[in-house]
This record gives sequence, structure tokens and C-alpha cells, in this order.
Amino acid sequence: MAARAGVPVSTLHYYEAEGLIRSWRTEANHRRYDRRELRRVAIVKVAQSVGVPLSEVRAVLDRLPRDRAVSARDWAEAAAPWRALLDERIALMTRLRDQMGHCIGCGCLSLDACPLYNGEDRLGRFGPGPRRWTGGRGERA
Ligand code: FES
Repeated sequence: MAARAGVPVSTLHYYEAEGLIRSWRTEANHRRYDRRELRRVAIVKVAQSVGVPLSEVRAVLDRLPRDRAVSARDWAEAAAPWRALLDERIALMTRLRDQMGHCIGCGCLSLDACPLYNGEDRLGRFGPGPRRWTGGRGERA
């Protein structure tokens, strides 16, 4: 399971402890996984790679049936709450890519044209963190 899923055994144990996947034990006390658990591990890995919190991954996986094969409708219904979250992530990554791409290799921090310029930390008065990247108040349009 670990080899096929591309995760350490300790990660599988962690996912299991978090209720994301399930295993069973043989008479010799060896841990075994149903092959359907591979899909769940894949979803967890991909979701984590784009920054979806484990709690939200669990919420989606908890909506999937355990007693039968998962249908396309099951997936669509379970994943529906992710649409807005993923749209938000895509917008953030697009903004980051575009703004960083504009400045990489430039270094001018032009007062007029640079999307990274934050003279006198004027964005800091709107709160902590990366105000421009996350679309918080004070973001340049
Ligand atoms: S560093 Fe030159 S435009 Fe941002």
C-alpha cells in the first residue's frame, strides 16, 4: 500500500489515525488495506498539495459511502463544497504566478508599475500577513 500510494508507512498510519482511511488485520496481525483506500490516499495527497486542510479532506471523504462502490454521483455530491474553495485557491495561485512572474529578474520595485511595491508598508495598516496575495483589504486592484 505504501509503495503504491507513494507515501511512507508512517503516513498511512497517520491517515488511519485521522480517520481518512481504514485497514484491517490478518490473523498474523498484519495490517491490510482494501484497494479502494488507494483512491482515498490519492485524494488526500493531491488535496494537501494544493493546500486543502486535512479537516476539509476528511469532511469530503466522510460523505463517501463505505459499504459499496463509490459512484460518480457520490463523488460529485461529496466534492461540491470544494468548488468554491478550489476556485479561491486557483485565483490566489494565478495572482501569485502573474505578480511574481512580472517581477522575477526585474528587481526595480517601481513605484508606478511594480505589483510587489508596498511603500511605507501602507498595506500593513489593514492587518498582518500577505495582504496583496490573499486579496485582503488594501490590495491593489
Ligand atoms: S520588481 Fe520590477 S516590476 Fe516588480
